[in-house]
Amino acid sequence: MANDYNKLTPDDIDVFRSICGDENVIIDQAELDIHASDETEDFKYPPEVVLIPGSTEEIQAIMKHCTKRRIAVTPRGGGTGLSGGALPVYGGVSLSIKRFNKILEIDVNNLMIVVQPGVITQVLQEAVEELGLFYPPDPASRGSCFIGGNVAECAGGPRALKYGVTKDYVLGIEAVLPNGETIRWGGKLLKNVTGYNLAQLLVGSEGTLAIITEITLKLIPLPKERLCLVAPFDEGEAAARALTKIFMARLTPSAAEYLEGNAVRCAEEKFGKSFPQSDAEAHLLLELDGNERALLERDVETVGEICLEEGARDVLLADDQAKMDELWMMRRGIGEAVKSVSVYKEEDTVVPRARLPELVGVVREICDKHKIDAITYGHAGDGNLHVNILKRDLSDEEWSNRLPGAITELFERVVAMGGTISGEHGIGWVQKRYLPIAVGPSELDLMRRLKDAFDPAGILNPGKLLPDPE
Ligand code: LAC
Ligand code: ZN
Repeated sequence: MANDYNKLTPDDIDVFRSICGDENVIIDQAELDIHASDETEDFKYPPEVVLIPGSTEEIQAIMKHCTKRRIAVTPRGGGTGLSGGALPVYGGVSLSIKRFNKILEIDVNNLMIVVQPGVITQVLQEAVEELGLFYPPDPASRGSCFIGGNVAECAGGPRALKYGVTKDYVLGIEAVLPNGETIRWGGKLLKNVTGYNLAQLLVGSEGTLAIITEITLKLIPLPKERLCLVAPFDEGEAAARALTKIFMARLTPSAAEYLEGNAVRCAEEKFGKSFPQSDAEAHLLLELDGNERALLERDVETVGEICLEEGARDVLLADDQAKMDELWMMRRGIGEAVKSVSVYKEEDTVVPRARLPELVGVVREICDKHKIDAITYGHAGDGNLHVNILKRDLSDEEWSNRLPGAITELFERVVAMGGTISGEHGIGWVQKRYLPIAVGPSELDLMRRLKDAFDPAGILNPGKLLPDPE
């Protein structure tokens, strides 16, 4: 589809003002600059206007106008995405959902919550936890990301291991199509096979099909107890192997994170705090939860023994809230810490869990071969590793020459292992050219036809997810 979007005219701005009110139509340069980036590397694509609608009807009117005038619209949540989903790469409108910030209902009898998409994920989690309920998906950015963005990207996080990712909680959705129509699908239903599952189609669609305006999510009871342990290893593969053994012992940790020593050291530097035995080659950060403290302690002991059998130097238990909070603060901060080390490129590889030790070796092999440095960490329990390739002191030329070859090889190896090129960050702007490595021509063609069915004018989040036509 041609990317010949119309530039905004003063008449368009007047139309937007009549729809949203003057104060919600922003053309101030400082705001345009903020909306030019998300958390993806150092991209900057300023929109021509930021719109902050306050109702579904306002979004309908905006979309009708933008379709009619062929104006690009890029939806924006908390702006924490890591694949460039919120970058307005063709200018036009950055459509912020930040005024959609209400929890509409917490239904304790049905264990459901109905929310608007601009609610911060952690706010949602704390609201339900007060009632003894649990919304597990916990992306590292949960303190500032929006639940709508989580749905659009199918966010994961450490607890996905035991509890699943965002898609496993989405039961109903209201969304506005590019032509201005509103669709509703599902609701507070644990079972629903009424035609194509339109709610799940929108999960992970990266804002390319419709603008989500309301979400119904499943909740579960909040486990009463939680314990963490850290196992430092002198060999990355041994840490990955220990994890496979933990599952073979029929234990499911609520989180099992793999942290290379250099990832941990980066976080130590950034936050001025120390991580246990940070000189180790790799760490497993494990969390177990449940309702019975005694049972949990016994399981933690078994997990610790397995780690030691597989070569852990030691096993360190964090059993009070302050220690656990600090470990998780540092873990969640690794992404941010890596950013302050060097220009970098983040890849979000995922393989079947038992092949994780192999993936750890493959990453090292590719780094050696292409003479690049990387910091690797991630959700080992899901076979999902974030490989952060660092520029460090490479020249711009060396960086741009080495990077595509290294990434292509990494993705080809991952796919050959039965894996894929993104586990939880999405394809967006930065990975679309690699999509054909993981998705065949028939599937890609079907994706393009789906996009056309939702958005025939191609105005919604253009330039994302699907590779540019040759
Ligand atoms: C994390 C983000 C980068 O796991 O996904 O920290
Ligand atoms: Zn992650």
